[in-house]
Parts: sequence; C-alpha cells; structure tokens
Amino acid sequence: MQTPRTKIVDALDAAPPVVGVRVKGWARTVRDSKKVVFIALNDGSSFASLQVVAGAELEGFEELRHLTTGSALSVEGELVASPAKGQTVELKATKVEIVGKADPSYPLQKKRHGFEFLREQAHLRVRTNTFGAVFRVRSVLAQAVHQFFADRRFVYVHTPIITSSDAEGAGEMFRVTTLDVGAPPRRPDGSVDSDQDFFAQPTYLTVSGQLNGEAFALGLSDIYTFGPTFRAENSNTSRHAAEFWMIEPEMAWCDLQDDCDLAEVFVKYLLRTALDKCGEDLAFFNQHIDKGLVARLEQVVSAEFVRISYTEAVKLLQESGETFEFPVEWGKNLQAEHERHITEKILGRPTFVTDYATQIKSFYMRRNDDGKTVAAMDLLVPNIGELIGGSQREERLDVLESIFAADPHLNADDYAWYLDTRRFGTAPHAGFGLGFERLVMYVTGMENIRDVIPFPRTPRHCKF
Ligand code: 4AD
Ligand code: MG
Repeated sequence: MQTPRTKIVDALDAAPPVVGVRVKGWARTVRDSKKVVFIALNDGSSFASLQVVAGAELEGFEELRHLTTGSALSVEGELVASPAKGQTVELKATKVEIVGKADPSYPLQKKRHGFEFLREQAHLRVRTNTFGAVFRVRSVLAQAVHQFFADRRFVYVHTPIITSSDAEGAGEMFRVTTLDVGAPPRRPDGSVDSDQDFFAQPTYLTVSGQLNGEAFALGLSDIYTFGPTFRAENSNTSRHAAEFWMIEPEMAWCDLQDDCDLAEVFVKYLLRTALDKCGEDLAFFNQHIDKGLVARLEQVVSAEFVRISYTEAVKLLQESGETFEFPVEWGKNLQAEHERHITEKILGRPTFVTDYATQIKSFYMRRNDDGKTVAAMDLLVPNIGELIGGSQREERLDVLESIFAADPHLNADDYAWYLDTRRFGTAPHAGFGLGFERLVMYVTGMENIRDVIPFPRTPRHCKF
C-alpha cells in the first residue's frame, strides 16, 4: 500500500527527521545540477513550496533531470533539516513518480508574468504564487462570513438566482429564456410572446437577493444571503464584474444606524480573520503587491469608521478645491473619483456616507422626513471606493405604494408579493450588500477585480 499523502503545509511544519513521507504536487521550478535535481513542489496548501532533493541514485534520475516545470509528481522520502536559506525542512526523495508530465510549452515559466497575460491563462494561473494566495485568502474570507453570522444567530438563506423582479430597479439584468432568440414567437403586435417562454413571463438573473431576503427577515428577524449576482452594466472598470458574489444581511427591528454598526463590526471581523489566518499569504501581498497593506489592515481594524451625510460629503468635496472629471452637485451620484477622494484624502479612513438624495437611490429605501433624502448608506474604503451599499427599507405600505405609483419603470403587479410583506405585519428593517470581490481586493491589495475571482465575467469576456 502507498504511504498516505501529507499536505505540503503540514510537511513544512513537521520537526525533522521524519521518514516515509509522501507528498504530491506540481513542480514550480526544477533545477538540475547534474548529481542532484532540486524541485520546488507546491500543492496549493501553503504559499511556500517544499524543496525536493532528488539524488543521482534514484531510479529514473535521467528523466528527472529533464523534468518540465508544471509536471505533477508524487514523491516519497525523508523530511530532513534543510541547509538552504529560507526553509527549515526539505524532502530527500527515495522515489519520484511523474504522475502527469507537463508539455514543454507550459505557459507559466519561472519568470514573472503580468496579470494581463495570466488572465488569458485563468485555468492555469492558480498554480502561481499570487493566485494561489488570492484564492486561499478568498476561501478564508468566505468561511469567516458564515462564522460571523452563525455566531450572531443569523439564518443563512438561499435566495433565487432566476427572478422576475429587478431588485435594484436599474434595468441591468441578463435575460433568462429558452425561446429561440433568432426567431422568438411573436404576438400580433410584433412583440416577443413571453407566454410561450419557460416561465410564461420574462425572467432574468438576479442582481441582488435583497427583496427575497426582506421577506425572510420579516419572519426570521436576522438573515443573510451569500451568493452570485449578475449585472449587465457595461462598465469596463477594474471594480465591476458582470458576475460577482454578494453578502446581504437583512435585519428586522433595525434602523440605519444599527445597519452601519453591523457593517462596521462585520468588515473589521473579516479583516481580523484574514490577518490571523492568512499571515503567509498577506506577507507576500505586503511585499510584492502593496507595501503598506498589512499596516493599513491593522489600522482599519482598530480605527473607528467615520459617518457623514451625503449632504456633508457633497459640501466637503466642493470645498476641497480638487478638480474632478465629473462635477460634484447635490442630487447627483457620487462617482468613484469622488468616493475615493473622500475616504482617501479628506477623511483618510473607512467612511459611511448616509442619507443620499432620493433620486439617485433605489425605490426600496426608506424616505426621510425631510422629503429629499433616503435612509441609505454606502461604506467607502481607501483604494476601493464603495465596498458596501445598504439602507433602512421603506416599511410603510402607503409610502411604498405611492413610490410604485409615481415610477413608470416599476410595475406594482410584479412586486405584489413584496407589498404583501408590508400589508401583513410590516416592521422596520434594514440591510446591506457587501461586494465580496471588492473585499478580497481590499484585503489582498490586488487592483483588478478580474484577479480576485476564479474565472472573471466582464463585458465581451466569458472564456473558461
Ligand atoms: O450597492 P449595491 O448595488 O446594493 C445592492 O445590490 C443592495 N440590494 C444591497 C442590499 O442592501 N442588500 O451593491 C452592493 C455592493 C456594492 O457596494 C459593491 O461592493 C458590489 O455590491 N457591487 C459590485 N461588485 C462587483 N461588480 C459589480 N458590477 C458590482 N456592483 C455592485
Ligand atoms: Mg451601491
């Protein structure tokens, strides 16, 4: 029987000597010095690779001398103290089995590759230092999300992916259909006859689980969703993807301030967890991607986030003397450049901007008494801009009905069930959505959203 496999992270941690150790992984580098071949073996369980030392006495040694980078190996041997710098142990091989030889055209050679090149190799890039680290951190953060909410007795809800309602009312949805798009059935007036479609009505991929989440909060009190969301917005920026993951807590008996409070402890918890559990990976990002990263994360965890109103934010921007590409004007959306200026230059820390002008926010946000603003909040963080968007929800049936009546883009019939939640035992509630990829960018210092999601989907790109 074959010796069971030890993960490389555990092998690196072991106190040498240990005989009869088997590891399996991919050769990151192969160095041949005639009498001995050095192989850096990595199985993704840790940032560091294990140095395998294969001596000339080994069976198949000549073949090992020509081993190609990227090959998959199973190696048995003795873990011994390493004389080499930067590692405490190495594996003195007694047997090396080439499980899957890499063709010499393997695109990931030892030299450093640009991220753009690696995006074209999204199926292989996970075998590089940077991407291994990104996806380990991403996984730790995802598990921390569930832990955070489980500790607070939030119920995890799987909201639907296919939907008939536009949760944001922004009309940026991908159509889901089984009709022949080349020749759809048509009504006498020429319009597409969705009665003949799979759901007998137009359907889409969801932009947010919020509306369904609200229904569940008005019964289970504290819930959250964590799932994929889809937006057909044609914004080719480093912070937008057509498919991204969002975490959306929704809480009954909460107002806007409670919502901000939760968002603040949530973000701090996630950063703290990454600092505690991903030290090796973060040290790499700190050294190669973003020099101030770890110090900044530590600082954010202990700093108090600032809270200012949208009206104050507009005033601060106007008084800043800065020239922006887009004008700053009360009633207009804050652009990414404005958001970053507030959190990076004016206030220098994570900042909640609250109570936005009604006309720039979604229909479900609670109307404030001033008649001009809604109980919305965005959390802006340095280097990213908007990390979270949320609000207290309009729980008053009459107010919500008048909002529907006034907006020609919203069809009240489509939202009848949503209005029902206000008709039958409505209660104050609030929630937010945190863009998971933006969080991963924030924690790793990676600058492009395409480099923190395994297989990115962006306008004109859906390879892999
Ligand atoms: O601000 P948004 O649009 O809010 C909502 O969808 C609400 N329904 C959330 C809620 O209250 N339950 O999106 C929330 C967050 C943003 O702050 C941003 O971090 C992220 O989702 N986001 C995107 N991330 C990547 N690519 C995109 N195209 C994104 N659009 C939004
Ligand atoms: Mg938003």
